[in-house]
Amino acid sequence: MPDQMHPTTATSDPPQEQPPETLLNLITNVLSLLLLSTITVQSFIGRWQVLRPKLTSLQSSLSSLSDSPLWPQNPLLQTLLPSLLSTLQRLLSLSHQCSSTSSFLGGKLLFQSDLDIASSSLSNHLHDLGLLLRSGVLHQSNAIILSHPGPGSNKEELVFFIHDLFTRLQVGGAEFKRPALESLLQVLNEDQKLASLVAKEGNIGYLIGLLDFNNQPSIREQAVSAVSILASSDGESRKIIFEEGGLGHLLRVLETGSMPVREKAAIAIEAITDDPDNGWAISAYHGVSVLIEACQCGSQVTQTHAVGAIRNVAGLEDIRMALAEEGVVPVIFHLLVSGTSAAQEKAADCVAILASSGEYFRTLIIQEKGLQRLMYLIQDLSSTSCTIEHILRAISSLSVSDSVSQILSSSTALIVHLGELIKHGNIISQQISASLLANLSISDGNKRAIASCMGSLVKLMESPKPVGLQEAGALALLSLLTVRWNKKELARDEKGLMKLVKMLDPRCELIDKKFPVMVVDALLSGRSGGCRKRLLAAGVFQHLQKLAEMEVAGAKKALQRLSENRLKSMFSRTWRE
Ligand SMILES: *[C@@H]1O[C@H](CO)[C@@H](O)[C@H](O)[C@H]1NC(C)=O
Repeated sequence: MPDQMHPTTATSDPPQEQPPETLLNLITNVLSLLLLSTITVQSFIGRWQVLRPKLTSLQSSLSSLSDSPLWPQNPLLQTLLPSLLSTLQRLLSLSHQCSSTSSFLGGKLLFQSDLDIASSSLSNHLHDLGLLLRSGVLHQSNAIILSHPGPGSNKEELVFFIHDLFTRLQVGGAEFKRPALESLLQVLNEDQKLASLVAKEGNIGYLIGLLDFNNQPSIREQAVSAVSILASSDGESRKIIFEEGGLGHLLRVLETGSMPVREKAAIAIEAITDDPDNGWAISAYHGVSVLIEACQCGSQVTQTHAVGAIRNVAGLEDIRMALAEEGVVPVIFHLLVSGTSAAQEKAADCVAILASSGEYFRTLIIQEKGLQRLMYLIQDLSSTSCTIEHILRAISSLSVSDSVSQILSSSTALIVHLGELIKHGNIISQQISASLLANLSISDGNKRAIASCMGSLVKLMESPKPVGLQEAGALALLSLLTVRWNKKELARDEKGLMKLVKMLDPRCELIDKKFPVMVVDALLSGRSGGCRKRLLAAGVFQHLQKLAEMEVAGAKKALQRLSENRLKSMFSRTWRE
């Protein structure tokens, strides 16, 4: 009686222990029998007909295999051939059942499912064999053990290595997959520039499939590491990873993986969402809650990259709403206060993006006492300059609300700190601080308290870039110069006045004249505290005359003021004399 449940073997030796040539002969024999048998079957004829083309294609694959000079040495065949043989034997025994009219033991349904299982194994073997043949590894003598390209390897050697590696990964069992992944990681760690070649020559889709939970944990872990390096080192591989659905897998890993694996997944997710075209997929893969949870419970590394990913997608309106629903604001503020400095920076950026997105988030942030925290953090000496920049942007977005603006205006500590940032901050911080100062209603006392930043404000006015810097400097100066004491201070700053006059010079074309004209006009209005004399001495009259002729906004008015004052002082002198 034919063995129903187990494939029969032709000899007593287990197939693994037979030389590959013998195995190939056995396979070829069984295959010929099977092909004959599929013609004479009397039941399930349709199904056998579908199988026939697969069997003929196997026949031609096998003949290509035996034509490849080095095929018996390939280690992958040591497992592939025996399992192919056993599948064919199984199919042969099933075909025997169909050639007699005998009833099917166990029923037709069971038989059908056995046949389906065997055919799908056959398809897998065919697929693996095809991969092996196409990879070119059967034509290379160094494919016996996985080669490792040295530092001086040329492109051809690298491409061969990648083909060999991915063939082992795809065709081999765990004993092949693990060393292949190790080797891939080693090569990528040595030279991240190889990422694009790996993305192009390897099978990223397959690698991503290894992130699936059906795989062994150690293999999954290595695959996550490889995907993480590929995603963070090269735009092209990042794109392929995204297109192959990697983001969804990575989010599942971030959700449920072990700590080191979650860190690597977070790094990859941040890198992938850095591309604005990919961000939307975070909500499609239900990633919002996963990212927020990672910000709360992850290791510091995980938190830093998870908040980076949130920052990357916070600009997208749909995602922003989901973020709000999942309670993102307190989570981000927690990181802003207690995260690593990299996490703080990204969290600050995130707050700034959310605060500028509209009233809804501004209200949420204020409800979470966000304003007080931001005002406190900006004075925290340990903040990096990037973090300060983002915090300033967030405060400035919140300042749209009148109540916030009042709170800011009445905080001496904040005003003094803005003055310090204008003197010592980077250019972006200087610009935002100046613009914020200009917008607040500051008491005269506080204006006096920060008089020392006026010299820096004049300097900002000299720089045509970034856009808006000149204006911010000028407007802040205008605000400070409403206090007479400050006019006197500026009059004493000879260098500052010289700079202003120079900016008025029509020959100096980089400067938008409107702004120095505004400032000079402010200096001349009311009692000028001694500025007028110095300005005149520096040649401001001629410049203003020219600018008035050129119809520069405000120039005529400033000129008038200058002349009036001139007359007045002439009169007062005459009177005194
Ligand atoms: C100051 O106010 C202007 C006009 O309302 C606004 O465009 C600008 O963004 C404000 N600056 C800051 C730093 O808030």
